Amino acid sequence: MTRWSTLLLDDASLAQMPDLPVDHVLHHADVVTAQQPKPQALYERWEKQQWNAQAIDLEQDRLDYEKRLPKSARKALEESIATFIIGEYTGLDLLGPILTGAPDELDHLYLGTQIADETRHTQLMLRLGEEVLGLDADPKRMLVQAWNMCTPPHRELSRLETEVIREIQERPSDYGRWLRTVALFHLISEGVLALVGQRAIVQSLHNVPMLPGVKAGFTAMCRDESRHVSFGLHALRQGVREGYADDICDMIEQAAPIALRIEEGGNVEDAPEGTTMRELGIESLRRQLRLIGIDDAFTDHVVGLTERPAPAGDR
Ligand SMILES: [Fe+2]
Ligand SMILES: [Fe+2]
Repeated sequence: MTRWSTLLLDDASLAQMPDLPVDHVLHHADVVTAQQPKPQALYERWEKQQWNAQAIDLEQDRLDYEKRLPKSARKALEESIATFIIGEYTGLDLLGPILTGAPDELDHLYLGTQIADETRHTQLMLRLGEEVLGLDADPKRMLVQAWNMCTPPHRELSRLETEVIREIQERPSDYGRWLRTVALFHLISEGVLALVGQRAIVQSLHNVPMLPGVKAGFTAMCRDESRHVSFGLHALRQGVREGYADDICDMIEQAAPIALRIEEGGNVEDAPEGTTMRELGIESLRRQLRLIGIDDAFTDHVVGLTERPAPAGDR
């Protein structure tokens, strides 16, 4: 489905979001990215798609979490929120140098909007951490608590992000490095992990009369992510056209195998077949690489790297 008719989510207010048909929410980013919107169009969408992280009432969510949620669902929720507390916060760190190194004016303007979005997402996650999960209200201490709740692969990916930030901060106008950073952040952290994670939460809460604030917030974040992922694909598509495919593929080869193992070592019990983060992540990775002009043989190669431990000295 590529027609704009599915874009109910585009015009929904925060209050309407929990009632949207779940399929619309789940496919929204695919519909938007398939249109290949340019930075100016993304800016214009952003102006129309504002929401307020402070306006979400979390009282019912706190009661649901404390009194009504089954134990396994509580664990899954805790792990997801912890992952997003770290992910949104480190996203802000990465976007500073990405904004500084933006190759043209319209990219720069768009990236200002994304920094505002990630700030809002971080704010909502801090509220969920404090008001729903009962974590420490001080962000510094909450980030440490959340870090300890994340899976080992998620921590590994965050460390890779920190290394890449250092690289780009040394030479912010190096276009190849800028593309590597966008490949890591926009394509892997957002396009594979955040989108898949947000969808998993929206889908699991579908038809569940609980956690209305979490549902509204993650739906709004899914909508924002459709713009973020679209920007990344635009930038990388241009990079591939300009001869930087090797830089982009090199970063994806490092980061995608970690992202596809993100659930390893976590508490969440096995998901039904076809719906694990790994399977959904592979699907998202393949789709996005096609959209920037990288063929399936490379995707298969990257997926193959995660299928069995590589023999020592193999890489
Ligand atoms: Fe975000
Ligand atoms: Fe994002």
